[in-house]
Amino acid sequence: MKTIVVCVVYFCCVLLSNGKEVHETSHIVSLYRDRSQKNQPGRPYFHFRPLKNWLNDPNGPMYYKGVYHLFYQYNPYGAIFNTTIVWGHSVSHDLVNWIHLKNAIVPTKSFDINSCWSGSTTILPGNKPVVLYTGVNTKNQQVQNLAMPKNLSDPFLKEWKKYSGNPIMTPPDGVKPDNFRDPSTAWKGKDGIWRVVVGGLRSNLGVAILYKSKDFVHWSLHDEPLYFGKNTDIWECPDFYPVSVKSRDGVDNSVIRINLKYVLKASFKSKSHDYYTIGSYDAENEKFLPDSKGLTGSSLDLRYDYGKFYASKTFFDSVKNRRILWGWINESDSSADDIKKEWAGIQVK
Ligand code: FRU
Repeated sequence: MKTIVVCVVYFCCVLLSNGKEVHETSHIVSLYRDRSQKNQPGRPYFHFRPLKNWLNDPNGPMYYKGVYHLFYQYNPYGAIFNTTIVWGHSVSHDLVNWIHLKNAIVPTKSFDINSCWSGSTTILPGNKPVVLYTGVNTKNQQVQNLAMPKNLSDPFLKEWKKYSGNPIMTPPDGVKPDNFRDPSTAWKGKDGIWRVVVGGLRSNLGVAILYKSKDFVHWSLHDEPLYFGKNTDIWECPDFYPVSVKSRDGVDNSVIRINLKYVLKASFKSKSHDYYTIGSYDAENEKFLPDSKGLTGSSLDLRYDYGKFYASKTFFDSVKNRRILWGWINESDSSADDIKKEWAGIQVK
């Protein structure tokens, strides 16, 4: 049996490296074989999670050069959430079997020393992925940072570097420094300018704060949010993307054409649920216009899922022309039990 497992693992490894053997094993923390984690009570066999410890939000999922990437909020030191959250990183060829790589983005700089919180990937022209993430800085303020792969010819994107000019966004007036986080995937308008939303709370309104940039490095605050809601507490992990009204195919975030609707999703912290609404995007006025009232904090707001499911994020899978939704399930054991079982949290799609 052991030999079969080793062969399968070896085969996956070869597949994942596009037919080449993976020699740089120092970067590979482990190959994903859940059945080998027998000492962790209740550990799921199928759903994604790293070998041990705490996991929360999915971050920056993407497809790059034959490989699916999933980053996630991860505590490398234990099975509870704490102040040293990093971006864990795993890759897969099929979204079922995973190779766990070394952590991609970890607290090292004044702009993220107290945690590297959630964010998203955007693929820039020329197939260049970049990450926008929230750093918790030396003063425990939330700021937005930029990171990029060190070596674009590596399909595993094992090494990441942080932009030296970080932070690129700081809490705007009216937004408290601990209420400003989780940049979305950016989208490009007809005018060639990038837009991104950051979640927040402003004057007791949950907001998708809008920023614009010509070069993805210098961002200016738009005077109005893309959208906001009353009675919702802070909006965490906003997600904004087009959906086709004519076909079941997914649509890339930057596609502009007729017959599109838009989904705006926000994770309401006080309710611990993900809510969404569908509408249109008035690009001229930088406004999301919901078809019917949504994101109001009422029990009639639409939810992605009616069980435990939070901080979700989508990405466009260009191979199969589909949009994939990842979300975090916190299995709700006590912290004491999480410590005993050595794991907490799974990702579902
Ligand atoms: C959502 C969240 C995000 C934050 C991250 C910290 O679960 O609170 O708002 O960036 O988790 O891990």
